[in-house]
Amino acid sequence: MAKCNKITCHWLLILSIFPICFIPSFSDDGNTDAKILIKFKSYLSNDTALNNWKEAIAPCNGDANNWFGLICVNNTIFGLRLENIGLMGVIDIDTLMELSKFRSLSVMNNSFDGPMPNVNKLVGLKALFLSANKFSGEIRDDAFNGMKYLKKVYLAENEFTGHVPQSLVDLPQLIELSLEGNRFEGHIPDFKQKEIRVLNLANNQFEGPIPESLSNVDPSNLAGNKGLCGKPLEPCKSSKKHTNLIIAITVVAVAALAIIIIALSFLFFGRLAQTSEYKVAQDSKAQNKFQNYNTGLKEAHPNDLPDDFKKENGDLHFVRKDKERFDLHELLRASAEILGSGSFGSTYKAVLLNGPSMVVKRFKQMNNVGREEFHEYMKRLGRLSHPNLLPLVAFYYRKEEKLLIYDYAENGSLASHLHARRGLGEAGLDWPTRLKIIKGVARGLAYLYKEFPTQMLPHGHLKSSNVVLDHAFEPRLTEYALVQVINKNHAQQYMAAYKSPEVTQYDRTTKKTDVWCLGILILELLTGRFPANYLRHGKGNNADLATWVNSVVREEWTGEVFDKEIKKSCKNGEGEMLKLLKIGMCCCEWGVEGRWDWREAVGKIEELERKG
Ligand SMILES: *[C@@H]1O[C@H](CO)[C@@H](O)[C@H](O)[C@H]1NC(C)=O
Ligand SMILES: *[C@@H]1O[C@H](CO)[C@@H](O)[C@H](O)[C@H]1NC(C)=O
Ligand SMILES: *[C@@H]1O[C@H](CO)[C@@H](O)[C@H](O)[C@H]1NC(C)=O
Repeated sequence: MAKCNKITCHWLLILSIFPICFIPSFSDDGNTDAKILIKFKSYLSNDTALNNWKEAIAPCNGDANNWFGLICVNNTIFGLRLENIGLMGVIDIDTLMELSKFRSLSVMNNSFDGPMPNVNKLVGLKALFLSANKFSGEIRDDAFNGMKYLKKVYLAENEFTGHVPQSLVDLPQLIELSLEGNRFEGHIPDFKQKEIRVLNLANNQFEGPIPESLSNVDPSNLAGNKGLCGKPLEPCKSSKKHTNLIIAITVVAVAALAIIIIALSFLFFGRLAQTSEYKVAQDSKAQNKFQNYNTGLKEAHPNDLPDDFKKENGDLHFVRKDKERFDLHELLRASAEILGSGSFGSTYKAVLLNGPSMVVKRFKQMNNVGREEFHEYMKRLGRLSHPNLLPLVAFYYRKEEKLLIYDYAENGSLASHLHARRGLGEAGLDWPTRLKIIKGVARGLAYLYKEFPTQMLPHGHLKSSNVVLDHAFEPRLTEYALVQVINKNHAQQYMAAYKSPEVTQYDRTTKKTDVWCLGILILELLTGRFPANYLRHGKGNNADLATWVNSVVREEWTGEVFDKEIKKSCKNGEGEMLKLLKIGMCCCEWGVEGRWDWREAVGKIEELERKG
C-alpha cells in the first residue's frame, strides 16, 4: 500500500471533490474517446444531464473528468457512472466495447427497461451496477460467460424473473452480488466463491432449502422469499419424500450436538450441584432449565429451578463496590436470552428478578493462567473505570469455564446497527451519532493504552460487535484486555488483533496493532460494509483483508463509498467524513512503521468537528 497521503489524494481525485493534483495534458485518444462516447449518448434519451458531453472539450483531464459521469485515470476512460439522472433508451454495449480500458459501468437508479444488456461483450468489466431501473425478463444462462474479471454485480430493484443464470453463479472473481427486490425464482444456487462478501437475495421468489455455504449469511439478505428454509432461516420441514442422506446426516449431527450441549451443561452445573448433593440427571425440570440457559432457547421460567439447586451459594466474585450484589443462583434463575455467540462462547442477557439486566459471557478458552492470577487480573479489570468501557461487574471461576458478568447496554452492538438491523428496516445511524461513537471508541482505547502501558494489546479484540451502545448511543468497549487470560492458540485464531498484517506476516504484535483494528472499525463505520474475512478463523487471510481495505477506497470508482444512510443525514459533513476516512486509512497502513500510533490516531479523531 502506498503512503497515506497518496491514498487520500488519489481518493479525492476519484470523487472529484477537490480539484487538486491535476495532470494537465491531453492524450491523443481524447478525440477518439469523445467520438465513441457521443455515439454512446446518441442511443440514450432523457439525457439532459449529459449536456456537457461535447466534442470541443476533452472528456478527461488527467484523473479528473471534464464530462459528467466519466471515471478517468491518466486521460483514459475506465468507467461510466451515470446514476440518478432519469436516463432512458438503449445502453449500447457495442459502442462501449471500443473503449479499451473500460472496467466499470453504473447506470443505477435510472429508467432503463427491457432485457439486461449484453454485458459479456465487455470482457474486461470488473463492476456492473444496474440496480433500481426497470429491467425485466429472464437473464440468459450464458449472459455472464467469459467475464473473468467481473467482481461486483448489482441487479437489485428491477423486474428480473426466472432462475439465477448459471454463468453468474460461475463467475470466478465474484465478491459482491446484489439481486434483491426482483422476481428471481427457483432454488438458490450454491455459490462456490470463497471471497464473496456481499450477497443479497432478499425479496424475491426463491424457494427450497438454503445451500449449506450460505448458512452463515445475515438472514436479512434472504428475507422476503416465502419458500426458503434451512439455516440461517427456519428449519425445513422434512417430509418423507425428501428424506435423503443429507437430511439424515444433518439430523444425526444436530442430535449429537444437542447431546454434547446437554452433557456439557451437566458437567458444568453438575459440579456446582455436587456440593449440595443435587443430582441433575434425575430432574427433568432442571434439564429443561439448563438447556434453555445454554442454548438460549427463549426465556427460561424463573421458578423452575429445583430447590436443591437454590441452596447452592454461587461463588460469584464481585469486582466493583458500586454494584448491587446477587449470587449465582439468582443469576441462573434470571430469565436468560441469548445475545449472540461469539468466538469464545455465548453471551446472554440475564434479567435479574427485581434487579438490573446483566450481560453474562461464557468463556471456555480461558485457562491460560491459574486461579490466583485470574482472580488478581479480574480485580484489576474491575478497577478500570471509563465512560467508554463496559464495566466488568463480577466473575465466576471454574477451571474449565469462566463467566464474566458485565453491565448491559440497551442499544446493542455497533455491528448490529451497521449491518443486521438495517436489513430489518431500521434506520441507519446518522453522521453525528457515528462521529460520537468513533470519538468514544477512541477515548476508551486511549484509556486502555494508558492503563496497560506494558501490554502490546491493551484491547486485543476491537471490532464492531465488541462496541455496544448505551441508551444515549454512547459507545462502550467490551471484551477488552483479555489477551492475558485467553489461551494462546485460541487468541491467535479468533481475536481481532491477530488478523493484523504484522501478525499474519511476521507473527508479532506491536503497540500499533490495536490501532489497525481501530482503522478497520472506522472504515466499517463509514462504509457500512462488513469487513469480510475479518471474522473468519485462523491465519492467512490478511491478503483478503488488504483487498477489503483497498476496495473500500480504491476500487470503488462507482457506487458510493460512504454508507448511503449517513449521506442522507449529512448535508455539510462530507469534509469531516473524508477526514475520518483518511484517519481510517492511516490506521490501516499495512506497514507498522508508516502506521499512526494511538496518540496520533486518537488526536486526529478528537479534532473532527460535528457539522451538518
Ligand atoms: C499516463 O499516460 C502516459 C501516456 O500514455 C504515459 O506515458 C504515462 O506513463 C502514464 N502515467 C501513469 C502514471 O500511468
Ligand atoms: C433516483 O434518481 C432520482 C432522479 O431521477 C432522484 O430524485 C432520487 O433521489 C434518486 N434516488 C436515490 C435513492 O438516489
Ligand atoms: C427524465 O429525467 C428527469 C431528471 O433528469 C427525471 O426527473 C424524469 O423522471 C425523467 N423522465 C422519465 C420519463 O423518466
